[in-house]
Amino acid sequence: MENKQGLNAKQSLKQDEIIHMFDDIAKTYDTTNRVISMGIDINWRKEACKEAFRILNRQKLDIADIACGTGDMMLHWEQVGKNLHVEIQSLEGIDPSNGMLEQARQKIPHGIFKVAQANNLPLESCSKDIISIAYGLRNVVEREAALKEFYRVLRPNGVLVILEFTTPNTRSLFSRLMQFYTKNILPIVGGLISRNFKAYRYLPSSIDSFITREGLEAELLACGMSTLVAKSYSANVSSLLIAQKKL
Ligand SMILES: C[S@@+](CC[C@H](N)C(=O)[O-])C[C@H]1O[C@@H](n2cnc3c(N)ncnc32)[C@H](O)[C@@H]1O
Repeated sequence: MENKQGLNAKQSLKQDEIIHMFDDIAKTYDTTNRVISMGIDINWRKEACKEAFRILNRQKLDIADIACGTGDMMLHWEQVGKNLHVEIQSLEGIDPSNGMLEQARQKIPHGIFKVAQANNLPLESCSKDIISIAYGLRNVVEREAALKEFYRVLRPNGVLVILEFTTPNTRSLFSRLMQFYTKNILPIVGGLISRNFKAYRYLPSSIDSFITREGLEAELLACGMSTLVAKSYSANVSSLLIAQKKL
């Protein structure tokens, strides 16, 4: 039977399970993240912020970070904005996991946080210049509805910044090493630190089942956003997409 959002019970349960999983690993999330990523994500995040600021080339901006988790991307928006003399008029973090938001509130006491899913944002239409979602889109079961929400909330010419893990498509030695690491080492290390092996087995499988960067670009276009920046890092392990809301 389908609910009012057109989801069947199995899909709804899956989304609930994903959110519950993040509640469960929230307290160890930052430590695990730093260990398994070896800090490499910091540069990817900074570059995403810089590119978005460069595209908009404006002094005052309103930003919402969706699937904000423990708030890392919000801290980068603040820090890069300060370095580039961009005034961030408002910065909101949105996530459906209370556990993740509890950690975020401790890290960013002045932050504004809301509990919500990406497909149903508690934000006014045409109210944000930037929407970011870092390593969150894979977890959103209703992706199309979420992309439509991002379009609704963005101002004309506003940009959507997506950072996401992607499946390496090159056959280089480095690429194969990265794949081996993600599939075999990372779930063990993540599982040991968080004591939740299921959550860190979910990570490589969710990357495998996620669409390609090109597929995502096509979905964005179908929702009225055209890609301005498409980059991959570390043998395609992580991708950055910046898409602009068309007038
Ligand atoms: C891998 S974490 C990323 C957190 C943070 N953005 C970062 O870069 O560290 C994924 C986040 O997606 C959130 N999430 C799961 N399902 C979601 C949904 N349907 N809508 C929005 N966020 C969701 C989780 O609660 C979790 O905080």
